[in-house]
Amino acid sequence: MNIDTIFDTMNYGPAPEGRVEALDWISAHDGQFGHYVNGAFTSAGKDRFDTVNPADGMVLAQIAQANTSDVDAAVAAARKAQSKWAALGGHGRAKYLYALARLVQKHARLFAVLECLDNGKTIRETRDIDIPLVTRHFYHHAGWAQLMESEMAGFEAVGVAGQIIPWNFPLLMLSWKVAPALAMGNTVVLKPAEQTSLSALLFAEICAEAGLPNGVVNIITGDGRVGEMMTTHDDIDKIAFTGSTDVGRKIREATAGSGKKLTLELGGKSPFIVFDDADLDSAVEGVVDAIWFNQGQVCCAGSRLLVQEAVADTMIDKLTARMATLRLGDPMDKCTDVGAIIDQTQRDRIASLVDAGVRDGARLIQSSSVPELGCFYPPTLLVDVEPASAAAQEEIFGPVLVTTTFRTPSEATALANNTRYGLAASIWTENINLALDLAPKIQAGVVWINSTNLFDAAAGFGGYRESGFGREGGREGLFEYVKPSYLAKLKPAKVATKVAQTSATLAGASDGLLDRTAKMYIGGKQARPDGGYSTPVLSSKGALLGHVGKGNRKDIRNAVEAATKAAGWASASGHLRAQILYYIAENLSVRADEFADRIRQMTGASGKAAHSEVEATVSRLFTYGAWADKHDGAVHSVPIRGVALAMNEPNGVMGLCCPDAAPLLGLISMIAPAIATGNRVVAVPSPLHPLSATDLYQVLETSDLPAGVVNIVTGDRDELAKTLADHYGVSALWYDGPAEGCAKVEHASAANLKRSWVSGGLARDWHSRDQSEGREFLRHATQVKNIWVPYGE
Ligand code: NAI
Repeated sequence: MNIDTIFDTMNYGPAPEGRVEALDWISAHDGQFGHYVNGAFTSAGKDRFDTVNPADGMVLAQIAQANTSDVDAAVAAARKAQSKWAALGGHGRAKYLYALARLVQKHARLFAVLECLDNGKTIRETRDIDIPLVTRHFYHHAGWAQLMESEMAGFEAVGVAGQIIPWNFPLLMLSWKVAPALAMGNTVVLKPAEQTSLSALLFAEICAEAGLPNGVVNIITGDGRVGEMMTTHDDIDKIAFTGSTDVGRKIREATAGSGKKLTLELGGKSPFIVFDDADLDSAVEGVVDAIWFNQGQVCCAGSRLLVQEAVADTMIDKLTARMATLRLGDPMDKCTDVGAIIDQTQRDRIASLVDAGVRDGARLIQSSSVPELGCFYPPTLLVDVEPASAAAQEEIFGPVLVTTTFRTPSEATALANNTRYGLAASIWTENINLALDLAPKIQAGVVWINSTNLFDAAAGFGGYRESGFGREGGREGLFEYVKPSYLAKLKPAKVATKVAQTSATLAGASDGLLDRTAKMYIGGKQARPDGGYSTPVLSSKGALLGHVGKGNRKDIRNAVEAATKAAGWASASGHLRAQILYYIAENLSVRADEFADRIRQMTGASGKAAHSEVEATVSRLFTYGAWADKHDGAVHSVPIRGVALAMNEPNGVMGLCCPDAAPLLGLISMIAPAIATGNRVVAVPSPLHPLSATDLYQVLETSDLPAGVVNIVTGDRDELAKTLADHYGVSALWYDGPAEGCAKVEHASAANLKRSWVSGGLARDWHSRDQSEGREFLRHATQVKNIWVPYGE
């Protein structure tokens, strides 16, 4: 090509990055890799598989498939190293994390090339995005290690963390998992995706170079079977997973009832909303970064373009023109925009979802042909996709954008939320008020305003709904790798047993009252149980105190419906919520003697103890009245000209299955933090001692609490918990009860990936402020949404 032709065509010449160093590194390992366990590589063994460059089909190396004894060895090494690693203290660990950051930076080019070869993503992205974000993550978390003693007081490491990561950002996902885990004093066993193990294995070498104590980081390789061995391993305390929603569900099932802490970062179908006043050229560049970045193999990819009708045609024309300029091909060429798809299976999946979209009536626009060699899929637009089409609903995980139009902001919100996922959203408008009005209404863990796919170690990332639970990054992400220190002190709760009704009291209400059957409390009204059955409530000595309704599925459904209707509570001001909580406290306090009597009758507690429970309940209501306008979010300092606003948003409708111990205090300790933060609740009181809850109706009715904010359904706690877990309208479920009940709740929550918080059968002291009130409850009652707001013209 001569200068004239270049001038005429304005084509780029090839600018390939060198691959020699990366290939030399692989050769230095004889082209085969074992696992990295206890500070050394094992031999690759006989059970190996190829890792292939998807851009040209070349086999890069052979990787060992771990078996049970490899997993056991890695977990044992991590276990052995953990207490010493934690005891090293924040500063000691910070020095290692800093060393890791420095060494990744030093070997940045090697990492970038290796990642490009193994994954097929472009060198432009691995060099300028993936690896810099990795070093930033280690630096940032070196800082958190240093600050742990002061900033995370009262918390300690969870123990051994099992981490399972996907292939789309191999080293970046490793850093998101390893850095916070190590900072907080955990040791790790990490499994990279089978398609992309190489950068994790190079990272293992970096750990050795940094002099990290043996066993602190262990890397084992292999496919999903190895992941399964980890999720069912008895000696792993926490599982952190990023990958598909289907596997996330399996992991929730596999870990249910095991006491393992769990974070799931799953799929998405994120909306990219363009209003008619947006800067369309910027929005077009935004789309390029949203869906063609990393070939669209991004969990938070802006894969659904929702564009306001007036500018839809212009936007599609601009996008079509821009798409045609994207350069697809050799990922190692520095001028390439779109690289290879990870493997043929993934490519086939993309193609079949695109076919489905076309069958459902969408218009197909594809930009370019693809190279014959390698695994490529062209940037694609599917215009006017039916919202119900699989192409509009399923995560395609490829360079495919589906488009739909909308007319009004409320229609945009409804379309944006018309998905089972809730990972991210991007809003484009020159009207910042409109953008900030929409951001809280969209069910997603991250919202980018006039921007997209911005990430930083200082800002949390994670999903709502079926995009999973837990956060990575930011202060909010640290809590996924710690547990409260008081947990170690808790003993298993005594299994509460029903007292037999004495024959002398079988006659029932002998004090002249005709009907002593307490009703349910649904939508601000007392309601009879749907099934028409009731159960007796006995005193500690077996005397009949009354009856309560036996709630069933229909009662729960009615209660959830009432709670859903009370959505205005979520946007009520903290000040208003505080006033109502204080008012409940005041009205309860007026009737303290009556409530104390009831506790005494039901539980056999002394008069003094019963009074002290009522007083503690009044105090707890005050605590959450106090918190209602103080559970502030944060403004994260992210390295852009702008801010990331971390907002604590309510979960939505919460199910609360309340403890037998301290029937009034336990109940209020769950209800108060939930409603203080804007949730609406369906509470199931202690089945043994439910009358403190049913007596509360009158207190709630006289305290200006809007109808539907608190609903109370009495009956069999475990049966009702299952119904609450199954219900798609319930966003989070707390359960305090026997260990088997906890396991059932976690199992039942797998289908819809509900966020659950269970007692594990341990006996919390409800009177202890350390154990039973404050930030821990507030954190479980809320989910953090990060809203990125760039500044400038
Ligand atoms: P995947 O979810 O099967 O794989 C992710 C990781 O989980 C890998 O390390 C894999 O070995 C491991 N794994 C697989 N089965 C497991 C099991 N039963 N227990 C424990 N670990 C297990 O994802 P895959 O098959 O690679 O991709 C399929 C689809 O998943 C993609 O088309 C995409 O829609 C989605 N995906 C989403 C990602 C995200 O970041 N949200 C990342 C990768 C895939």
